[in-house]
Amino acid sequence: MSYPYTRLRRNRKSPWVRDMLAETKLLPSDLILPIFVQEGQNKATVISSMPNVQRLSIDLAVKKAKQCADLGIPAIALFPVIEGSLKNDNAIEALNKNNLICRAIDAIKQAVPNVGIITDIALDPYTTHGHDGIVMNGDVDNDATVEILTSQALVLARAGADIVAPSDMMDGRVGAIREALEGNNFINTQILAYSAKYASSLYSPFRDAVGSGQNLGSANKSTYQMNPANITEAMQEIEQDILEGADMVMVKPAMFYQDVIARTVEEFETPVLAYQVSGEYAMIKAIDNDNNAIMHEALLSIKRSGARAILSYAAVEVLF
Ligand code: PBG
Repeated sequence: MSYPYTRLRRNRKSPWVRDMLAETKLLPSDLILPIFVQEGQNKATVISSMPNVQRLSIDLAVKKAKQCADLGIPAIALFPVIEGSLKNDNAIEALNKNNLICRAIDAIKQAVPNVGIITDIALDPYTTHGHDGIVMNGDVDNDATVEILTSQALVLARAGADIVAPSDMMDGRVGAIREALEGNNFINTQILAYSAKYASSLYSPFRDAVGSGQNLGSANKSTYQMNPANITEAMQEIEQDILEGADMVMVKPAMFYQDVIARTVEEFETPVLAYQVSGEYAMIKAIDNDNNAIMHEALLSIKRSGARAILSYAAVEVLF
């Protein structure tokens, strides 16, 4: 049958039918809120490049985690803002079992045990040069970095992180972390691999937020993060991480890389997450009016691409 017997507009005639037949719905359980954690008490500081996002002291991060749990947001991702005096070339503070992030995990676990905690495995919040790893001879050294990342993962697992999420793009890090977790009886600690993480210019507001941008200066991360031109290589990265023991893989950023999300979902069975990064958030906020309509559309489209869950700084506000 064709027109006029087929009239596709019939199924769009009113809100109830549009809702009933929607192929994709954005639910609270699709969302993960990244939270920037800082030292202090009852302290929230503005991040000028990220409207409506603040760095929070641990007590306020606990409140935010509670709000997420109440709204049905299943998990949060913690990012530490490390004081300059604790940064050095070797990121030694990353291995301190009493560091900011470990204390945040502990406080949130005690107060809000039903919210999942994801922690980043990477050294950039802790290094004076702003790179994700250990720099030797002018570049991030892969194997030396994997060694310290593995220790970092153990420190965070011990502190109570549910999911460790290597965001560093070193080769072999997922396998090394998985082996260490198994060897230390953390058999239920999940690994969310930032598998297809591109060397994107969309991360700059995040680098302002954690204070790694100034340290990185004009340097870039192109010897470890992926070339935005590539998709076949992303499939290789994802395959490797799955073989090494990742429980979930991630594509990052999300919006300019939805072809990568869709293809990953088609080629692999492992759950695929997407990260709507700081620059995407800031861009959308710059043109969105008060009701978050553009933000909602962006997140819905990322879900339609096949992402099983989405990290978004708008996770809370988009639900109102
Ligand atoms: C650190 C890390 C970054 C982001 C998440 N983890 C920055 C980077 O790789 O430089 C970016 C997140 C965002 O922009 O929202 N490895």
